Amino acid sequence: MIRAIYPGSFDPITNGHLDLIHRGASHFDQLVVAVLINDEKQALFSVQERMEMLRDAVKGLSNVEVDSFNGLLVDYTARKKASVVIRGIRAISDYEYELQMALMNRRLAPDIETMFMMSGEAYSFISSRLVKEVFRLGGDITGLVPPSVATRLKQRLLVKV
Ligand code: PNS
Repeated sequence: MIRAIYPGSFDPITNGHLDLIHRGASHFDQLVVAVLINDEKQALFSVQERMEMLRDAVKGLSNVEVDSFNGLLVDYTARKKASVVIRGIRAISDYEYELQMALMNRRLAPDIETMFMMSGEAYSFISSRLVKEVFRLGGDITGLVPPSVATRLKQRLLVKV
């Protein structure tokens, strides 16, 4: 039984993340999507809101759990009795940062394996940051995020205006 963790900020989840979740769920027995609780990073959505959007997006996937964590990822991974961390690579520019994190995590916990996965090429340009920027400036984000995220973005920006 292999349990994998898919950690991230997910502020908010995009269709690129969702594609990776589907791929992960079909290759591992269990997949835990874990939202980092990070007080230092200014987020648009609270951890609770991000988890609600994630839960909504993974409703049909019976082997996927949504959770949150703080502290070291490797400690959380061990607590969850998982042996694999998955991370998405969109372009070569992602690789340097991901490699550094993976090697640091391996140094901290040699038994935990980081596996890089590529989202479908249709999603390779999507990031949470760009989705928020395009939406804020009035651009069309149809097809970039799950419908519940688009709804929440509208509500959030209406409140902020
Ligand atoms: O979606 P993100 O922001 O790129 O995800 C980054 C994340 C959450 C995977 C990373 O910041 C993380 O694992 N943070 C937990 C703290 C930790 O373990 N730091 C050392 C990792 S090298």
